[in-house]
Amino acid sequence: MAKPKAEHARRTTPLGDVLAQMIAADGPMAVDRFFALALEHPEHGYYMGRDPFGRAGDFITAPEVSQMFGELIGIWCAAGWQMMDAPAEWNLIELGPGRGTLMADALRACSVMPGLRDGMTVHLVEMSPELRKVQGETLRRSGVEPVWHDRLEDVPDGPSLIIANEFFDALPVQQLQKQAGRWHERVVGLDGSGELAFGLTEDPVPDALLPPWARDAEDGAIAELSPAREAAAKEIGRRITSHIGAALIIDYGHARSGVGDTLQAIARHQFADVLARPGEADITSHVDFEALAAAITAEGAKAYGPVTQGEFLTKMGLREREEMLRKRADARARIRLSKGAQRLVAGNQMGQLFKVLAVTHPDMPKPAPFNIEPEGRA
Ligand SMILES: C[S@@+](CC[C@H](N)C(=O)[O-])C[C@H]1O[C@@H](n2cnc3c(N)ncnc32)[C@H](O)[C@@H]1O
Repeated sequence: MAKPKAEHARRTTPLGDVLAQMIAADGPMAVDRFFALALEHPEHGYYMGRDPFGRAGDFITAPEVSQMFGELIGIWCAAGWQMMDAPAEWNLIELGPGRGTLMADALRACSVMPGLRDGMTVHLVEMSPELRKVQGETLRRSGVEPVWHDRLEDVPDGPSLIIANEFFDALPVQQLQKQAGRWHERVVGLDGSGELAFGLTEDPVPDALLPPWARDAEDGAIAELSPAREAAAKEIGRRITSHIGAALIIDYGHARSGVGDTLQAIARHQFADVLARPGEADITSHVDFEALAAAITAEGAKAYGPVTQGEFLTKMGLREREEMLRKRADARARIRLSKGAQRLVAGNQMGQLFKVLAVTHPDMPKPAPFNIEPEGRA
C-alpha cells in the first residue's frame, strides 16, 4: 500500500475499532468493502439500529419533505398498472423504503383506481430491522400487510412496479485513482498512529478493467465503479422483461458517466469526514445513471431519461396537486405545502441534482411523463 493521503481522522466509534482490527489482521480494505461495512455491519452498521430521518436525524428525503412526492409516484403507479393491462395479481415493490412514507402516500393516491388494490401485494426490500418496524407501523395505517425481503432477487416474479428512491446511492462503490499514468484501487488502511486513512494499492488495475470514459483522465482523477449497483439494476431489468412491469429510479447523481470523487458522509445534516465516524454517519456516493441504464437495457428493458426531479415532478402535476391541497389547508399548512414543493423542484435544492430514470418492458408504451414530449431514450 502506498503512503496514505493526509485525509484521515481519529477513530471514535465502535465500528471504527472493528475496522481497524480487521485491517491490522488482513491488510487494507477496498473502499466498497468499507462502504458496505459502514452501512451494513450486522452489529454496528449505520442502518442496522437507527431511524436516521428527519430533523432529529441525519438527513431528510423527498417523501419526508412533502406528501406530494409519494402521491405523484402513486399516480405514476396507477398509470403503470393500466399500461400493464391491469393484471389481476401483481407486485408493488419498493427498494429501501425508509420510514414507509413514500409507500403510504403512493398507496393513498393510486387507490383511486378501481380494482388496482384487489390483487396487489406490497413487497419491501429492506435490510434494516429497525426500519422494518417503522415501515410496518406506517403501512398498517394504510391497510396493507407488506412482505419484507433482504434482496430484490427474493421477491416472487410476476407483473411488477418497482420504486427506488435514494436506494442506489446506499449501495457501495469502488474507487480507482490515477497516479503516475496508471490507475490504482483506493483502499482504507491505517496510518502511523493506527487511524483509518485512505491509500492506494501498490499494483495498478489492468487497463482492460477500466471503462472507456476513464482512460484519458489526468493524474489524481478518481473513477467510481459499482458492481453492486449494476447488479441491482440488472435484476430490475431482468424482472421487468421476464413478465411485464415498470420501474422508477430516483436518486442524486449524474446523467453521464465521468470521473470525480463523490463519496460522502452525512451526519446531523452536515457533510462529515468519510472515515471519521464509521457506523454513525451515512455513507453514500452519487449515482451514475448512464451505468444503471446500460445494465437495465442490456437485459432487454427500455430506459427513459434520466430527467431532473424538478422536470419529472412538474410534468407529473406537482403544481396542480399543490393547488388542490391548498384549497383545504389552513395558513400554516399552505406555507408547508409551498415550501415543500419548492424544495423538491428548485434547481438549487433537490430539483436539479436528483434525477429520475423510468424503465419499462419493451412492449409497453412510454411511461408518464415521458409520453408528454417525444424525448424518450430506448
Ligand atoms: C436513504 S434511505 C431512503 C429511504 C426512502 N426511500 C426515502 O426516500 O425516504 C435508504 C434506504 O435503503 C435501505 N437500504 C440501504 N442499503 C440497502 C441494501 N443493501 N438492501 C436493502 N435495503 C437497503 C435503508 O435501510 C433505507 O431504508
